[in-house]
Amino acid sequence: MRYLTFALGKGRLANKTLELLEKIGITCEEMKDKDSRKLIFVNEDLKLKFFLAKGPDVPTYVEYGAADIGVVGKDTIMEENRRAYEVLDLGFGKCRMCVCGPASAKELLQHHDMIRVATKYPKIAKDYFYNQKHQTVDIIKLNGSVELGPIVGLSDVIVDIVETGSTLRENGLDVLEEICPLSARMIVNQVSMKMEAERIKNILQRLKEEL
Ligand code: PRP
Repeated sequence: MRYLTFALGKGRLANKTLELLEKIGITCEEMKDKDSRKLIFVNEDLKLKFFLAKGPDVPTYVEYGAADIGVVGKDTIMEENRRAYEVLDLGFGKCRMCVCGPASAKELLQHHDMIRVATKYPKIAKDYFYNQKHQTVDIIKLNGSVELGPIVGLSDVIVDIVETGSTLRENGLDVLEEICPLSARMIVNQVSMKMEAERIKNILQRLKEEL
């Protein structure tokens, strides 16, 4: 039996995923050592491997078959647009992709003015404004703390994730439009889905029973 490899997005999602896998008897003791800098972990009994990667790299590992299974946010799946089957909504990591800004910017969105949009998600922003709203915008890619955009005058609005809304509130910004709901998803390599169908479907079935 060959190893099935899981790629998990580092951080909160990985921890939640491990908790869920534990419920169906898939454990990886090695991974629980918080001080470890090791990147890959093995469960010899179940012939499983796990590695932690930066979220946006998870769909890449899965597309190329370096991982059979990945767990990552829907935002990353949409932005990276890699070939993989999205097989399960894990129900955690729930948040929303939104257009946000000062209340005064709402009008700019209604009149279809040319506006500047700062975001970590240029593909999602482009798809939303060009293909759904048919509004021509100037998209500015940032790598974090995107809420700064409208505050310092870099952009009129932002496209970003809103979870509790506290980052927006504390910076005087509002949700102006909602693009889509988000949550953690399981993705599977297209070849693995055929070659390892039985093992993968068994894992999916047991996970569904826990959700
Ligand atoms: C995310 C997101 C928002 C914030 C939303 O940022 O980009 O800034 O969380 O959460 P809230 O609605 O609960 O306040 P993250 O913490 O990942 O850091 P970043 O801004 O550097 O990307």
